[in-house]
Amino acid sequence: MCGITGFTGSQPALPFLLQGLSRLEYRGYDSAGITLVNGKALRTWKTKGRLAQLEELLSKDLAESCGIGHTRWATHGVPSNMNAHPHMNEEETISVVHNGIVENYAELKEELMENGYVFHSETDSEVIVQLLDYYYNEKPVMKEALLKTVKRLTGSYAVCVTTIFEPDTIYVAKKESPMVLGQSPEGTFCASDAPALLEYTREIYPMQDGQIAILNADRIDLFDLKGKRQELKWIHFPYDIQSAQKGGYDSYMMKEIHEQPSAIRETLRGRFHGNKTVMPVIDQLDADWDSITNTYFIACGTAYHACIYAEILYRRYTGKMSSVIPASEFRYSNPSLNEHTLCIFVSQSGETADTLAALRLAKSKGCITISVVNVLGSSISRQTDAVLYTAAGPEIAVASTKAYTTQLVLLHVLVLKLAELYGIRVRGISRLIRDLRHLPEITEEVLAKEPQMKELAKMLKDQKDAYFIGRQLDYPTALEGALKLKEISYVHADAYYAGELKHGPIALIEENTVVTAMATQPEIAAKTISNIKETVARGARVILITDPFMSAQEFEYVVRIPDISPELAAVPCAVLLQLFAYYGAMEKGCDIDKPRNLAKSVTVE
Ligand code: M6R
Repeated sequence: MCGITGFTGSQPALPFLLQGLSRLEYRGYDSAGITLVNGKALRTWKTKGRLAQLEELLSKDLAESCGIGHTRWATHGVPSNMNAHPHMNEEETISVVHNGIVENYAELKEELMENGYVFHSETDSEVIVQLLDYYYNEKPVMKEALLKTVKRLTGSYAVCVTTIFEPDTIYVAKKESPMVLGQSPEGTFCASDAPALLEYTREIYPMQDGQIAILNADRIDLFDLKGKRQELKWIHFPYDIQSAQKGGYDSYMMKEIHEQPSAIRETLRGRFHGNKTVMPVIDQLDADWDSITNTYFIACGTAYHACIYAEILYRRYTGKMSSVIPASEFRYSNPSLNEHTLCIFVSQSGETADTLAALRLAKSKGCITISVVNVLGSSISRQTDAVLYTAAGPEIAVASTKAYTTQLVLLHVLVLKLAELYGIRVRGISRLIRDLRHLPEITEEVLAKEPQMKELAKMLKDQKDAYFIGRQLDYPTALEGALKLKEISYVHADAYYAGELKHGPIALIEENTVVTAMATQPEIAAKTISNIKETVARGARVILITDPFMSAQEFEYVVRIPDISPELAAVPCAVLLQLFAYYGAMEKGCDIDKPRNLAKSVTVE
């Protein structure tokens, strides 16, 4: 979730570039950089760390009127000065900033290296500037070089280019990563998001996928990928800076809930080749997969719920047993740890102290360690033998949403990968992979049920307790639904296996108790329905979340998820329960992004 700014005009570019980047800080970043064009040369400054550190490198009297800026949220290559953007070609005549993921960067890099190009960073983005250089040398027309370059890229990009060949011009291209344009009497602007522009103009143009723009001081020209001119239609941006940073939503949590389709899409990007999974870091592990005797999934909080989901899948797909242990318990559980043990650690932040402590123990015993982490270069990612990144982007709200659903999907692919490595053929693999690929659209569909969840959440207004029930793969969903609700609304919420109710918890059910029940697993759904009826008989108000086919006439409140493999129902259900918790907390007037007593990253044991 990098931030990009660009300016060309009659005024110095630097003030806009820096204020714009600071307005984009909410996107999260670990390094920052700018390039200014002074006619004869490109001057680039970049550094790991905060914008303040970049500003320390800059002298006060930089009057260049064309430049680009970048804040980097690392995805390929750790946060470092070298990996920070902008990236330049060898002659330092072209400078590029990029937001997105170039999926085919390894192939492109190899091809360019065969042509004598030398790379200086670990990033995927550097291939863009080298490709531009290559095509510009073939024919020195930058627009054509840019069109040829972006046509070679698979994946997502928002790209901004400056060059000494046209010192007053900025070239911009966009596909699946955001980019907005703006114009004022002082010049023309581009940025990853509108807050960067709002001090200068409220008339903005959000670029569409497959467009390129050429910015000059007094005009912007827009083209499609065939080079055909397109019309630029300005829109008036209605939000103030603060709500714009939240994408127009009331809170970061709501913004992050709505980012899930793209977060899932990015996390799954490049993970399949036909019916096979693509995880080179796992293939490269020095492991004798046939000799694995124990497997552990280890994490805290929401990530722990993702582990429970993964453990059920692992048993189902591989027929092998594994254990799931909260990281805070792991060291005291006498786990059986040796070189035949596989330990999988899951963490959004990659800094959770309990998870790190469990990881250190596993490493000291020679276990094979894999992590599923969201923050690149974090402690957990650095210390495991192999790391797989969720591409959720920065998660600011304390309550985890997009990190959870991206953990579910990445763990799902990891379990399929492990089955492949064990030589086990997973039944229905084609359908599973087809549905995994379809999850971003499924998530969009389920987000459209927001008004229904808002209405249902009104039931929580005067409640002190709420219960979530489910069986099999619906059980981690119940746990996560209960955690979300208690975290942000302070309603006491518990989750139970639906079949366990009658062994005790049903004593808690009384007239009007709110019970949210998931019944998405066909092999067990009839039994779950009987369990739900047991609560209805005791006066509970039941919200039933189920698939499109389950007969549910006898229930008053039914929410249907789209048709999807039952193994993936956990994703749409999680989204519904996030919305339910969100509106439940709104009913109670809670501060949603900053719940009491909680920290985003728990770095103490
Ligand atoms: O950064 P991590 O994923 O390791 O954090 C683990 C938990 O602290 C975290 O999931 C916590 O439970 C969230 N606030 C849940 O919304």
